[in-house]
Amino acid sequence: MSSSVKKAVIPSAGLGTRFFPVTRAVSKVMLPILSVPTIEFAVRELKNSGVSKIAIIVSELNSDIHKYFESVHDVDIEFILQEKANGLGDAILQAEKWVNGEPFCVVLPDDVIFNESPTIEEMIKIHSQFKSSVVALKAVEPEKIPFLGVVESQEIDKSMHRINRCVEKPQLADAPSNLAIIGRYIFTNDIFGYISNTPKGALGEIQITDAINAQAVKNSVFGYKFPGEHFDTGNPDGLLQASIAYAVKDVGKGPRLISFIKSLNI
Ligand code: UTP
Repeated sequence: MSSSVKKAVIPSAGLGTRFFPVTRAVSKVMLPILSVPTIEFAVRELKNSGVSKIAIIVSELNSDIHKYFESVHDVDIEFILQEKANGLGDAILQAEKWVNGEPFCVVLPDDVIFNESPTIEEMIKIHSQFKSSVVALKAVEPEKIPFLGVVESQEIDKSMHRINRCVEKPQLADAPSNLAIIGRYIFTNDIFGYISNTPKGALGEIQITDAINAQAVKNSVFGYKFPGEHFDTGNPDGLLQASIAYAVKDVGKGPRLISFIKSLNI
């Protein structure tokens, strides 16, 4: 399968503080859903979308990620160092030279999506049609809004929006909608210029949402409301929920897991 977008960046250099203490010794993206590290789901989604050149952004502490991919030969993996965890925008900026002027995907391994057709493949189709950046969108519950990037947008059809602006981690009262940006992006190459001009924002980090906002104000940016089940595995509750959802669907494991949960008499 060939794709009009050939390269992808997987940022994995965050500190993973919500998973302390295990992330003192293990990279967050190596934590598994059953036996499969979350980063493997990101790589499989890209491969199934026809994207096989991948740059993983790592810190000096992520030697386990290098080790894991040492014997993988069906995708071309490059490691790029982010010296300090200065935020997602800064992590993506480290890949500018490697991306070399092309449009590219970004997949956050924390955001695991179970769906028959890969989310990134659908987003590449939208990019091919409009030649614009595309972000994945999901309607979220009010309590999640202050932790996410939230958009103001116009609906084009039931799965497509045009983004007018976006705001990182708004107070609930200031949120422009309940539609949040989830970790799948197709970026036109000029995003690097917008990131470079983005000052440190929420939490003192360079936020990709601020760069997308600047791009959306000047150019068109589209949002894709993806189908399927999404889990934020960047926190222990989300990883547990993803693991349960994955296991119950497995014919070998599902019935045993369900009868075990019932046996707990809760
Ligand atoms: P998160 O903010 O969810 O990850 O970033 P984190 O910072 O590791 O988590 P906490 O808040 O400390 O628990 C989303 C993605 O961006 C990467 C992370 O590794 C994760 O995959 N990231 C984040 C970087 O690569 N560099 C950064 O400076 C920040």
